[in-house]
Amino acid sequence: MENASWIRRMFEEGAALKKEFGEKNVFDFSLGNPNIEPPDKFFEVFSALATKKLPGKHGYMSNAGYAETREAIAEYLSEEHGKEIFGQHIIMTCGAGGGLNVVLKTLLDPGDEVVISKPYFVEYNFYTDNYNGVTRLVKTKDDFSLDLQEIQSALSPKTKAVLINSPNNPTGRIYDKQTIAGLAQLLDSKSRELGREIYLISDEPYSKIVYDGVTVPSILAAYKNSILITSYSKDLSIPGERLGFIAVNPEATPLDQLLNGMIFCNRTLGFVNAPAFIQRVVQHLQGMSVDVTIYQRKRDLLCRALKEMGYSFITPDGAFYLFPKAPINDIEFVRELQKERILAVPGSGFGGPGFFRIAYCVEDWVIAGALPGFKRLADKYCG
Ligand SMILES: Cc1ncc(COP(=O)(O)O)c(C=O)c1O
Repeated sequence: MENASWIRRMFEEGAALKKEFGEKNVFDFSLGNPNIEPPDKFFEVFSALATKKLPGKHGYMSNAGYAETREAIAEYLSEEHGKEIFGQHIIMTCGAGGGLNVVLKTLLDPGDEVVISKPYFVEYNFYTDNYNGVTRLVKTKDDFSLDLQEIQSALSPKTKAVLINSPNNPTGRIYDKQTIAGLAQLLDSKSRELGREIYLISDEPYSKIVYDGVTVPSILAAYKNSILITSYSKDLSIPGERLGFIAVNPEATPLDQLLNGMIFCNRTLGFVNAPAFIQRVVQHLQGMSVDVTIYQRKRDLLCRALKEMGYSFITPDGAFYLFPKAPINDIEFVRELQKERILAVPGSGFGGPGFFRIAYCVEDWVIAGALPGFKRLADKYCG
């Protein structure tokens, strides 16, 4: 539990601060919990379906989810990825977290390695460990883009998969098309050399939260043995509803075994199937997302102010996280921020010591209220 998560620790310490100083006097950037309400259309569809009595719609279903929802998703993905994908390639899951567990349980034998570039979403460690897999952490470049040489040197006969996350939590980095093509080439040639598949798993719950016209390149178009995992948690702002899906590349091998394995694991991990009602709702909301310009405005507000104060960081392309350099040791700096009643998470909690994460999916008053504290610490340490 000591290593469980810096995010949760900060969140809990924040709760104590809020009790002492009052909610409005604590500036909480610790959690990636979207602050925007779901789009109006979500509520329209939700209400319309909630009052419809359909026989059998509250019973057990196929462990992969409702066929009509999977088909609607496949149709949308086919268009988005320029590739024919059918409902059979989609498995509805309990969020991206559920999807990652299903995929890792399906793929991993004990001791198999999953290569992950850091900084990264730390839950990956626990998810991999759930199935006795081992995470092999590699460095990214200074701008947090993938370092293909580092990935190459981590590949071994034990590698079962490379797991990427773009847009990235905590850095906001989106990997460009050329990098994804390079990664695909690398995995292709290593798979040939080893005489077996290395899978590319892409965790993309933030794929619709992108800025400045940057797009997330399609891994399904880039690499045959690819598995996309995403959710509606962030793009529709419904993380509590626990809905996501896995899309397996129709060219992946051995396709039937992969799909059947994942459907089996969805069942036997105890999820049985993803939440029924929300599956029916999202069937009608394909391609929709919250108004991303709201997050972009918050990003710009924060980036402009922190830059002026002297903080240094890479401007994020997507997601709702900023990952600035800590002017002193990141854990100490986060403690200093706490004294200013600002809650952030040390980069050490993401395998990125020397940085700190600000989740800016918060109300504007939180950003405005925190700026004087950030300024005082910049004056003290950034000089
Ligand atoms: C990178 C990343 N992957 C997966 C998840 C889990 O998403 P979900 O709520 O859809 O399970 C999160 C949640 O914050 C995340 O940041």
